[in-house]
Amino acid sequence: MAEPCNVVVLISGSGSNLQALIDDLHGAGSPARIRAVISNRADAAGLSRARAAGIDTRVLDHTRYAGREAFDAALIAEIDAFEPQLVVLAGFMRILSGGFVRHYQGRLLNIHPSLLPRHKGLDTHRRALEAGDAEHGCSVHFVTEELDGGPLVVQAVLPIEADDTPERLATRVHHREHLIYPLAVRWFAEGRLRLGADGAMLDGAKLPATGHLIRT
Ligand code: GAR
Repeated sequence: MAEPCNVVVLISGSGSNLQALIDDLHGAGSPARIRAVISNRADAAGLSRARAAGIDTRVLDHTRYAGREAFDAALIAEIDAFEPQLVVLAGFMRILSGGFVRHYQGRLLNIHPSLLPRHKGLDTHRRALEAGDAEHGCSVHFVTEELDGGPLVVQAVLPIEADDTPERLATRVHHREHLIYPLAVRWFAEGRLRLGADGAMLDGAKLPATGHLIRT
């Protein structure tokens, strides 16, 4: 059997997406193996999730670096020590420099809590409600130098309900995140997903601009 795809996961917080990846990818026969979890915050709860699963952890505190370029260079060195084929951003709340993004071109995935290109940035659930959107959801995409703007891989779409609050919506979206991120990572690890010259490709065919759509 082929060697599993080495994955490094970057986090800043709770790590519920990390947990979904751990749960999905553990065990014999998995196409991917999480080699390390790296956080820019020492108090990120996701670090305990990684340790509990026996995964190597590292903390790189961004406040100890002179600036973004210096931090990102140190982060690259830390990540590359694990020789990953894929780097997964799972609630990593840092804007990455162009140099970092180019270094991992085609092997850097992110998850975002909105139906991109709608609601880039923060506070997406409140903004979706305030905009009167009929639908909301989450997106996995390849990371490019455009913030929250890289080619979409998969989106989970859900209807906004009359009694949704930002908190309730966040919970509903989170559940979908935990389904679509392991799916996308598996696709990549199995060699089915790649970044082509003009977008994300699945099984050799260009994905639609929305990525693969899942409606629930
Ligand atoms: C997730 O909702 C993820 O989509 C979001 O941070 C949360 C992390 O939760 N990411 C972004 O907003 C990136 N722009 P988690 O730590 O429980 O996985």
